[in-house]
Amino acid sequence: MSFFDTTPTGRLLNCFTGDLDILDQLLPVVAEEFLLLALMVVAILLTVAVVSPYILLIGVILVTVCLIYYLKFKKVTNLFKRLENYSRSPLFSHILTTVQGLSSIHVYGKIEDFISEFKRLSDMQNNYLLMFLSSSRWLSLRLEIMTNLLGFAVALFVVFGISSASYSYKSMAISLILQLASNFQASARIGSETEAYFTAVERIRQYMKMCVPESPLHIEGTSCPPGWPQHGEITFQDYCMKYRDNTPIILNGINLTIHGHEVVGIVGRTGSGKSSLGVALFRLVEPAAGRILIDGVDICSISLVELRSKFSVVPQDPVLLSGTIRFNLDPFDHYTDEQIWDVLERTFLSTTISKLPQGLQAEVVESGRNFSVGERQLLCIARALLRNSKIILIDEATASIDLETDTLIQHTIRKAFQGCTVLVIAHRVTTVLNCDRILVMSNGKVVEFDRPEVLKQKPESVFAALLATAHSSLS
Ligand SMILES: Nc1ncnc2c1ncn2[C@@H]1O[C@H](COP(=O)(O)OP(=O)(O)OP(=O)(O)O)[C@@H](O)[C@H]1O
Ligand SMILES: [Mg+2]
Repeated sequence: MSFFDTTPTGRLLNCFTGDLDILDQLLPVVAEEFLLLALMVVAILLTVAVVSPYILLIGVILVTVCLIYYLKFKKVTNLFKRLENYSRSPLFSHILTTVQGLSSIHVYGKIEDFISEFKRLSDMQNNYLLMFLSSSRWLSLRLEIMTNLLGFAVALFVVFGISSASYSYKSMAISLILQLASNFQASARIGSETEAYFTAVERIRQYMKMCVPESPLHIEGTSCPPGWPQHGEITFQDYCMKYRDNTPIILNGINLTIHGHEVVGIVGRTGSGKSSLGVALFRLVEPAAGRILIDGVDICSISLVELRSKFSVVPQDPVLLSGTIRFNLDPFDHYTDEQIWDVLERTFLSTTISKLPQGLQAEVVESGRNFSVGERQLLCIARALLRNSKIILIDEATASIDLETDTLIQHTIRKAFQGCTVLVIAHRVTTVLNCDRILVMSNGKVVEFDRPEVLKQKPESVFAALLATAHSSLS
């Protein structure tokens, strides 16, 4: 996760499109062509040497001169290729941010600025590309002169009859040496291009070193107890977490126990670490200290696949994948259409979906943009319902839903997730009033954790203050 958090999107795109494309498509082709041409050059030189071994001597001198040129040239061409690669990332980033912020750019009249920035970045990238291409032409010109000199030498040998070979051999030597001119310079140029393309390999290897993998998805020989988690009791013990080594501690010494089958509302100011609790539970980030026990089992002792398959989450920014609605609800085809319609009914989506001509097979476009954010969250709730997990985390699931649906949803959460441990992270305090207990977070610490009635009664409690603010803003 930290790799994707810290690497700019432009660079990621460049790596997964540009560099991988070079590695998969271009590199094998140019490498093959280089080998083919280089072997042809060797074969021609050997054949011509039969006419007279002196030609071979001239060949050796020429090859040495070419090698010197090549070694000088190599540094430059690799540098230009690398600069060209690096200059592509900001261009990609710029295109991406422009496309994402198109409406803002129009509203603020910044069209000209963005176009000129685009021109500047693409000019820079094209400059390096031009340098790269011109530098290989620079080499070609010199190599061509060299090979033409070789052709001239062979012609002299043949004309002045220094060699005793037959005329047919001599004429073959002339025709081969004419071919050599183009083959030799092409092989040198393509050879250097091959080498320049290897900078893509170099960059991918750099990323591989930088990218620290998460802990193993499967751990040999260990398995979680059958039927785990039976109750869904979650215990945080002195739990501390930070996103990366160089970032501050986000969750600081959390100690609490959420009983099985309990519905807990989590509230707190923005940035207080509510969503981070979910991140910790799914082990998207490993603990800095302390541990989390679920029904007495330390979640760090089991494999990620087993752990993550036991929970369901309705994320703060719900994402649907491109495909059909059915695929989004049940990607592995585990459930029947009736079961899916049933959960859609319970999340009040069945009328919306049944209005679509293809029903469950209706198309969901990229990131689910043909559904409203509220509908997307409802679909995520439906998916969680379908999976029937023991522990469910809902991150502001009702943030983008109208009040009426909101009440219905609260009712559904209560009814449908009966027997499950439900953690509801809410912005609107009023939506969590009917939870069993309320957890109030502040600066990554637990400040209050009790039944809502108890907290409401305490006039000095943070929850009472939040509630008063909510009521005053409503009225
Ligand atoms: N991927 C991340 N990398 C580094 N720091 C992060 C990351 N995600 C969150 N944080 C930091 O962790 C802190 C808590 O964030 P978190 O998302 O848990 O807040 P939250 O309580 O869910 O807020 P909100 O109510 O706005 O959703 C914030 O200060 C934020 O800067
Ligand atoms: Mg959040």
